[in-house]
Amino acid sequence: RWAAAAAPRTVLLAAPRSFCAGVERAIEIVERALERDGPPVYVRKQIVHNEHVVRELEQRGAVFVDELDEVPAGAVTVFSAHGVAPSVRDEAGGRNLRVIDATCPLVAKVHAEARRFAGRGRQVVLIGHAGHEEVEGTLGEVPDSLLVEDVSQVAELSVDRPVAYLTQTTLAADEAEEVAAAIRARFPDAEGPAQDDICYATTNRQAAVRAVADEAGLVLVVGSANSSNSQRLVEVAGRLTPAYLVDDPGDIALEWLAGVATIGLTAGASAPPPLVDAVVTALRGLGAVLVEERKVAQETTRFTLPKEVLS
Ligand code: F3S
Repeated sequence: RWAAAAAPRTVLLAAPRSFCAGVERAIEIVERALERDGPPVYVRKQIVHNEHVVRELEQRGAVFVDELDEVPAGAVTVFSAHGVAPSVRDEAGGRNLRVIDATCPLVAKVHAEARRFAGRGRQVVLIGHAGHEEVEGTLGEVPDSLLVEDVSQVAELSVDRPVAYLTQTTLAADEAEEVAAAIRARFPDAEGPAQDDICYATTNRQAAVRAVADEAGLVLVVGSANSSNSQRLVEVAGRLTPAYLVDDPGDIALEWLAGVATIGLTAGASAPPPLVDAVVTALRGLGAVLVEERKVAQETTRFTLPKEVLS
């Protein structure tokens, strides 16, 4: 008698997934700086929050530092995609560092909004996660700005002038809206950003992971633990089905897969596309796999490179 062949597993690929335009630009800036100036090229903080990206650039001669005092005077120094506070720019200027700014233009837009609101006499309130590099940079633009992480902290805000709120670019859209709604309820004259601060890439990746999580018994999100947008993908998917963050296929635990016929797969905006392929290959190693894609949006956003790496 023939044994019945095991039914193939289905892998549902969320689309869009993986690199966003801001991450592609930031990585290209470091690569071009390495080609143009030769190693070492110093990078303040991780250029993007992904272990694999950082390790690969390190092998090519990038040196990642936490603060600028670790950089020799006059050296080529790249600011990461998450942006920096003006105090960091001042320090770089004081030490004659040759700065190339890889701040994502969509983060820079939030910085500009913070300055604009403060300039009009508003109390700036940022919705975001304490300690994240992007948040530190944005708060640094307006020294008396306030941070709220959740709805409960809105009640504790103490302000003496009209409020304007902004958000970190990589929040879960629905949670950020809850906090924004609480701010508007407490401060009816509060102003918000003209256009959503949560970026197109975050919005699209969350919509796509929701689409695959709806149909899947398990969702795998490729990304690093310190990647905000990857963590939010795990949370958004996790409200619908079990979801796990993996840096690469080595992090997949076999027990997650037991009895699961359909696996949703996506990657945070800082996670390289080849890692998604590597996860599919690893799953194929465990048995037949059918791959389907669920595409919820077409992305065409591209950012131009700074002039320092174009010459
Ligand atoms: Fe920029 Fe959004 Fe990517 S802010 S770096 S496009 S996740």
